[in-house]
Amino acid sequence: MGDGFDRDSWERRWSEALRDGTHAVARRPPNAYLLAEAADLRPGSALDAGAGHGAETLWLAARGWRVTAVDFSATALGHARASAERLGTKAAERIDWIEADLVTWAPPPERYDLVICLYLHVAGSVEELVRRLAAGVVPGGTLLLVGHRPVDPVTGAPTPAAGQIQISVEQAVAALHPARWEILIAEERPRQAAGTGVDAVVRATARAT
Ligand SMILES: C[S@@+](CC[C@H](N)C(=O)[O-])C[C@H]1O[C@@H](n2cnc3c(N)ncnc32)[C@H](O)[C@@H]1O
Repeated sequence: MGDGFDRDSWERRWSEALRDGTHAVARRPPNAYLLAEAADLRPGSALDAGAGHGAETLWLAARGWRVTAVDFSATALGHARASAERLGTKAAERIDWIEADLVTWAPPPERYDLVICLYLHVAGSVEELVRRLAAGVVPGGTLLLVGHRPVDPVTGAPTPAAGQIQISVEQAVAALHPARWEILIAEERPRQAAGTGVDAVVRATARAT
């Protein structure tokens, strides 16, 4: 058995959630922060780190982005690929699917106009992960990070993500050197889609060198 968020656990979780297409997760719309924050971006190349069943990857590809989707769950990626093919050849051809472990996988340096990492459970250091993903953003490009916080900062009560390690505002900001990054958003927001919980939301732009 794994530790709850390792590859085998995710395979089991995705197999269960995507088995017959009726589970709410399978029908989940693309992330609202992405929709808001990417609306003003000209489509280019994007990395979706921890892409899951691909709602955000598909949304980006449908808007003309070339997307690299990375996840270590073959089941999630298989589902996402099939959904992309249903969306149409043009969008599907704009996506590269990579089955890899984000504990070690690194993007090519300064490769993507947009890097997103939404709700990834982090096995190692959050700051190291953020630095590694951020290194993949081109000068002028955008980094969008969202993590579900384990504790509500207002009430101090545990959230549904209690005990989990995900990206936090403090750790993300600490990882982004001010000489290279302009932080546009760094805040905790109530999870409106879920109706409970708190999200850390960070949007940053890599300064042109
Ligand atoms: C909570 S889901 C989020 C999926 C999607 N980003 C979203 O916002 O709905 C976390 C995803 O990260 C993947 N994941 C977790 N740890 C990973 C790792 N070390 N390497 C690659 N993928 C990982 C899981 O398989 C899962 O698809």
